[in-house]
Amino acid sequence: MPRLLYGGDYNPEQWPEEVLAQDVELMRRARVNLATVGVFAWSRLEPAPGEYEFGWLDDVLDRLAGNGISVALATPTAQPPPWFGLAHPEALPVTAEGVRLSHGSRDTYCGSAPAYRAAALRIATALAGRYRGHPALAMWHVHNEYSSTCHCDLAAEAFRGWLRARYGGLDALNDAWTTAFWSQGYGDWAQIQPPRATRYLPNPAQVLDFRRFTSDELLAAYTAQRDVLRAATPGVPVTTNFVLGGWVPVDHARWAREVDLVAIDHYPGDPGAGAEQEAAFAADLARGWARHSAGGPGWLLMETAPNLIYTADRMHTKEPGRMARQSLAAIARGSQGALFFQWRAPRGGAELFHSALVPHAGPDSRVFREAVALGGQLDRIAECAAGAVRARVAVAYDEPSAWALQAPGLPSSRLDHLGEARHAHGALWRRGVVADVIGTLGGLDAYAMIVLPGHYLMSDDQAGALRSWVAAGGRLVATFLSGVADECGRVRTGGYPGALRDLLGVRVEEFHPLAPDDRVALHTDAGGGPRCPAVDGEPRRSVMGGELWSETVHLAGAEAVARYAGGVLDGRPAITRHAVGDGVAWYVSTRLDADGYARLLGAVAASAGAGPECGDLPCGVEAVRRHDGARSWLFLLNHTGAAHDVPAAGVDLLSGAAVAGTLRLTAGGAAVVQELPTAAPGFSR
Ligand code: GAL
Ligand code: ZN
Repeated sequence: MPRLLYGGDYNPEQWPEEVLAQDVELMRRARVNLATVGVFAWSRLEPAPGEYEFGWLDDVLDRLAGNGISVALATPTAQPPPWFGLAHPEALPVTAEGVRLSHGSRDTYCGSAPAYRAAALRIATALAGRYRGHPALAMWHVHNEYSSTCHCDLAAEAFRGWLRARYGGLDALNDAWTTAFWSQGYGDWAQIQPPRATRYLPNPAQVLDFRRFTSDELLAAYTAQRDVLRAATPGVPVTTNFVLGGWVPVDHARWAREVDLVAIDHYPGDPGAGAEQEAAFAADLARGWARHSAGGPGWLLMETAPNLIYTADRMHTKEPGRMARQSLAAIARGSQGALFFQWRAPRGGAELFHSALVPHAGPDSRVFREAVALGGQLDRIAECAAGAVRARVAVAYDEPSAWALQAPGLPSSRLDHLGEARHAHGALWRRGVVADVIGTLGGLDAYAMIVLPGHYLMSDDQAGALRSWVAAGGRLVATFLSGVADECGRVRTGGYPGALRDLLGVRVEEFHPLAPDDRVALHTDAGGGPRCPAVDGEPRRSVMGGELWSETVHLAGAEAVARYAGGVLDGRPAITRHAVGDGVAWYVSTRLDADGYARLLGAVAASAGAGPECGDLPCGVEAVRRHDGARSWLFLLNHTGAAHDVPAAGVDLLSGAAVAGTLRLTAGGAAVVQELPTAAPGFSR
């Protein structure tokens, strides 16, 4: 019987014996079946160089195994002990400003320092040797949230080696980086540095490549540990927890190939309804990455907060029921379980008020009672672990494009590929259309529709793959700035968006970025017949609005379906449509408002035969299916404050009730309907 994983980060090293005894008792009560142990335990495991203290960890693992609880055993390499930095000061990280950091927090190491890499491999090897064959060991959790950058001389040396491998010769590098600009021509590899503090704007191609290098350097640190662990324990999956965010110098789409199971940490930053949409995006992104992983199509929510959402200024407590509903929402989208940071709230340390399944108040608390209830729910829906989400729509999110658009000196300081990807995904989410968020433009045949939201960097190969896919019947929606630059970030000349000009049938001559408060109105094309229900209407009637961006679009094969109204672009094309072979390529030259975007993407999805999962549901009611052969499970999640009736048939595994046509979802309620193969409403695949 497949099972869903339930539990989270467990830090027994912070607690005395009597608490540990209670922990296991409480884990059993909550039906926890996986504890992540040892993430930041290096100084307890190796208090002095080469002196290991494993006794306490032996006890913990034995005790967990004895109670049927498995362990994701972490290598503790995200923070070396104090002795390490004192013995190897060159392995402490250096900021771009040249400041060498000291221990006292976490992630304080240089990923390029041989001393750090060696120490990390030693402790990983010691753990693998000690715990291979331990009955508790179910998974290896390498490190924690790889994301640290270093600008030191060791990193500089490694960066040069990486550049040599990428470019072969200096001429190619000088060309790729456009070093003729501002007298940066390199005559010797030794002259090249990581991006450090500069007088004025740095070279964007150098910054972009340094991020790519950092991703590969950290990946090498990960794979070195992984290979040691795999060799010691073949058959035990090895992974690391991915952290999302524009600041993270990790290209997760590439990393996904190297993990046995894609695992993500996710902490939404919106206490309101936006949190559910953020979580859906993260889940769909993890699923997109998992396409490239041996452990796919499933993935794992490795960390989320049981009871809080952080915003810039304060912590927000989750409403009753929200923890369970958000957990079910992640599982609906393919997570193989619900793991939390963390099991028990600490007494001290930098995160002493971070929430936990066992809060400071102890087990006599709402949160722990909800944790117990959630454990029961996950048991009842365990069979859905066999199912996988089938999305026919994809939103492309390319981390290097996101990095490139963070450069200063671009036409707007508010460009944000991650934000655009969320915006596109949110538009589909509101329409009830399930989409994968994909990190590479490969395997396109799985999709009937693809959205490229500001996919700034594009290689010739990627553009070629898109062209063939559209010609074979795909529906493409590209938005402004997609395909404008090549992989090195050099603009493709002759009119934007160079790589996609022919496919989209447009030529963009000039950009007109908008001020923060500016809006543009779009109206239907006066001459055109009905093209798309989303933008259909009386000729010259305003149908939607745009913000952030506008541009001078010339038609070069495409037809306009919406035009700018007013301002310098009055009457010029804003949204275009180009029939190519059996497919259609749409271009959207502004950032559409949420409602207009949802209508447009919803209409294109419908034309691609990829409609909503469960008919027209009110906004805030989520429906997603997991399929396994002829079986399917329909997850219904009501994030709103009102009850709603939803079409469904089968058995609700959460309540045990039969569902014959309509299911009443209470306010904030959830259902997981085991569907009869013939009874799935709206089931078209
Ligand atoms: C995660 C991290 C955990 C903990 C948590 C708190 O990103 O992996 O160690 O810091 O955030 O929000
Ligand atoms: Zn360094």
